[in-house]
Amino acid sequence: MSNNLDSWRGLPAAQQPEWPDRDELDKVVTEIAGLPPLVFAGECDNLKTELAAVTRGEAFVLQGGDCAETFAGATADCVRNKLKTLLQMAIVLTYAAKVPVVKIGRIAGQFAKPRSKGTEVRDGVELPAYRGDMVNGFDFTPASRAPDPGRLLRAYHSSAVTLNLIRAFTKGGYADLRQVHAWNQDFVSESPAGKRYERLAREIDQALAFMRACGADPEEFHSVEFYSSHEALILDYDQALTRVDSRTGRPYDVSAHMVWIGERTRQLDGAHVEFFSRISNPVGVKLGPTTTAEEALALVEKLNPGNEPGRLTFVTRMGASKIRDYLPALVEKVTADGAQVAWVCDPMHGNTFEAPSGHKTRRLDDVLNEVAGFFEVHRALGTHPGGVHIEFTGDDVTECVGGGNEIVEDDLALRYETACDPRLNRSQSLDLAFRVAELYRSA
Ligand code: PEP
Ligand code: CO
Repeated sequence: MSNNLDSWRGLPAAQQPEWPDRDELDKVVTEIAGLPPLVFAGECDNLKTELAAVTRGEAFVLQGGDCAETFAGATADCVRNKLKTLLQMAIVLTYAAKVPVVKIGRIAGQFAKPRSKGTEVRDGVELPAYRGDMVNGFDFTPASRAPDPGRLLRAYHSSAVTLNLIRAFTKGGYADLRQVHAWNQDFVSESPAGKRYERLAREIDQALAFMRACGADPEEFHSVEFYSSHEALILDYDQALTRVDSRTGRPYDVSAHMVWIGERTRQLDGAHVEFFSRISNPVGVKLGPTTTAEEALALVEKLNPGNEPGRLTFVTRMGASKIRDYLPALVEKVTADGAQVAWVCDPMHGNTFEAPSGHKTRRLDDVLNEVAGFFEVHRALGTHPGGVHIEFTGDDVTECVGGGNEIVEDDLALRYETACDPRLNRSQSLDLAFRVAELYRSA
C-alpha cells in the first residue's frame, strides 16, 4: 500500500462544505495535523482482530450512538448515559444470546453529516443546510449556518474530551460486571424493558457470586473494550489526523478506531473510497437498496485487496420493506466471491418518515422488522448476521415511535432533541437488544 494520502484530492469529493476561506481552512488543518492522535494504531488493529472474529461468525457487533453528536452534548451525563445504555444492550446480547459483543460507539467524532439537499428553506429564507457541528451551527441564521473551519478544531477537542471520559468509565470500574444493576438503577421502575433487564441482571449476579465462590474472578469482568467510530465525511479533517504508525509503517486515521463511508459518498471513483483505500483502520461502507452486487465487489477489491478479515464491514441499510428482496443477491455474490466481510444491519436509515407534526421519525416496529429480515436472509444463505448499527441516545427522548413504553406520534414534540435523525431512547434500545438476542438464539 502506498502512503500517498493526497491521492483523493484530484477526485470528486461529495458532501464537502463550501468553506468561505480556504486559507483559514489550511491553517486549521495544519494545526490539527500537529496535535496528538486520539486513538492508537494498535487499538485499531485490536478492533480489526475482533471484527475478524465477527467475519468468521464468532462474535457480534453492537455499534451505535447519536446520528449527529453536538459539542454541547460532550458532557459527563450525556456520555455516561450513552455508554450505560450501550453496556446494558451488550449485556443483554452477551448473556441472552451467548455471543461475544464487539462494542463500537458512534461517538467521539460523529460531528459531520451528509445532506440530501445543500440548502434549507424556512419561511422563504434559504440558508446552507446544517452539516454537523464540525462544519456549521444548527441555528437557522446566516452567521450560524456559514461553514467555519475553526469548528474542525473544536470537533477534535470535543472528541478528545469524550474519549477521555469513555476511557475513564470503561477502565476505571464503571463498566465492571458487578455494576450490572447500577446501570439500571434510575430506570427499572419506569419501563418494561428496565424490569426485564433487572431480572437478567439478577441472574448474572448469581452467576458471578457462584464464580467468585469457586475462586474465579477473571480480568475481563472488570473493564470492557470500547471502540470509537464515525462517518469520515470531511476528508480534510480525517487526513489531518492520519499518521504513519512507527511499528508497521502504515497510515492510520487516528481520529477513531473505525471509520465508515456513508451511502452518499461510496462512489467507486470518488474521493472517499480513494482516501479509505490508503488507511489501515477497520473500515465500514453503508450499502443502501440501490447497491448492486458488482458495486459491492468493486468496493471489496478497492478497500480490501488483500482480503484481510476484519478490515471491511458492510453496513446494509435497506429499509424494512426492501431488505428481504435486496439483501440476498448482495450477500450471495460477495460470499461466492470468497470476500471476507462482516455484515452489519443498520435498521434505521431506510425507515425514516415524516409524522403529521412534521417531525422526522421512525417506528420501532419497522426497525425490528428490518433486523428480523436481516437475520432471515443470513440464516437462509448460511452466512453470519454480524451485528447491528443503530442511532440511539441514553436519554428519555421522544424521537422514534413505538416500544414497550409506548411513544405515539402525538408524543414526538415532548422531547425531540436530535440534531439530525431520530434516535431510539434508552427503553427502545433495550427493547431492540432483547429482540436481537431472541433472533440470534433462535438460529
Ligand atoms: C448516518 O449514519 O447517519 C447516515 C447518514 O447514514 P447513511 O449514509 O446510511 O444514509
Ligand atoms: Co443518521
